[in-house]
Amino acid sequence: MENFVVSARKYRPANFKSVVGQQHITTTLQNAIKNNHLAQAFLFCGPRGVGKTTCARILAKTINCENRGEDQEACGTCESCLSFQNNASFNIYELDAASNNSVDDIRNLVDQVRYAPQKGQYKVYIIDEVHMLSNQAFNAFLKTLEEPPKYAIFILATTEKHKIIPTILSRCQIFDFNRIQIKHIAEHLQYIAKEESVDYEDEALRLIAAKADGALRDALSIFDLIVTYSAGKKVTYQETIANLHILDYDYYFKVVEALLAGNIADTLLIFDEILKKGFDGHNFVVGLAEHFRDLLVVQDSATVNLLEVSDEVKANYIEQSKASSQSFLLSALSIANQCDIHYKSSKNQRLHVELALMKMAKIPAALSLAALAVEDSKKKA
Ligand SMILES: Nc1ncnc2c1ncn2[C@@H]1O[C@H](COP(=O)(O)OP(=O)(O)O)[C@@H](O)[C@H]1O
Ligand SMILES: [Mg+2]
Ligand SMILES: [Zn+2]
Repeated sequence: MENFVVSARKYRPANFKSVVGQQHITTTLQNAIKNNHLAQAFLFCGPRGVGKTTCARILAKTINCENRGEDQEACGTCESCLSFQNNASFNIYELDAASNNSVDDIRNLVDQVRYAPQKGQYKVYIIDEVHMLSNQAFNAFLKTLEEPPKYAIFILATTEKHKIIPTILSRCQIFDFNRIQIKHIAEHLQYIAKEESVDYEDEALRLIAAKADGALRDALSIFDLIVTYSAGKKVTYQETIANLHILDYDYYFKVVEALLAGNIADTLLIFDEILKKGFDGHNFVVGLAEHFRDLLVVQDSATVNLLEVSDEVKANYIEQSKASSQSFLLSALSIANQCDIHYKSSKNQRLHVELALMKMAKIPAALSLAALAVEDSKKKA
């Protein structure tokens, strides 16, 4: 059997253009290379798994490439590129400050910096999680950072920018990496699924992308997990919600349908079913509030793009939003929100949610009563 390589490693981007969702960074780097205006120290900030290490490695490879293209991408075939691709280049040095944060670790690195590269133009030093360096280690490093030899480039990476001391900040060109949008993650997953000949449902990939909360690496790990589970080689929506323990949004559609009909019994029965499946009442309330928000958002063509779902599912939202008035949605959202806020302090949490649902089920009747009263007063006037 072939060795299984996790997708996050197998699909680490090899050049700038295959990095997803960080164009503001890759373009700036490529322009700097083109104009020979490269800084010697960078600080890459941003959440985990969004491409910091990846971009640092691509930069190192590109500036050492022997026949870099007009587009400022590495050729991928020269001796230097090959050594980078085989993790055998001497021109890149990575230090994980999370586990190597002593003065000695930094002294080793500083010693290294004194030797010019034997081959290629630049040596690139990546210090990951740089906020973890001890104060002493920071100080030992500062002088090198201040006056680096011209062949040395430092890339400091951190998930916690606020912990970086000003003396470091002021010496680096700072790049803020984005969380990656659900849509872009989902597209990337589609690409990988096709490469791996894995069948999928769009909605399943979107769900994985949403669950990853902006981190592409997390999305890839979840994807691998679900592919492993789905022996049938198809990533389905049903399998994904089961594996990720996510509540099927069909439930929200059903609850709202019952609420709009003023049907308290149905509403409570659906909630009961959700609890029996082992879902948490609080999550349900938060999810329901999001559902109301999504319905509100699709009611107006100006905001419809704020809803990040596939077109197929969007149609469902549009249909339900047409059936619900804005007043209903706003009142229901407000009740859901109150229920969320007071959930933790409630003594009987199930009843707390049920009460909120009952109030919501009464909104349509209350609204039509109010409308009647208005008409009545018009007639009298
Ligand atoms: N912006 C991105 N574009 C494409 N793949 C990405 C991106 N960000 C992360 N990945 C995937 O996740 C893996 C880990 O990314 P990495 O660059 O190490 O993240 P970070 O250093 O920000 O924590 C990569 O090997 C790649 O497969
Ligand atoms: Mg990293
Ligand atoms: Zn090359």
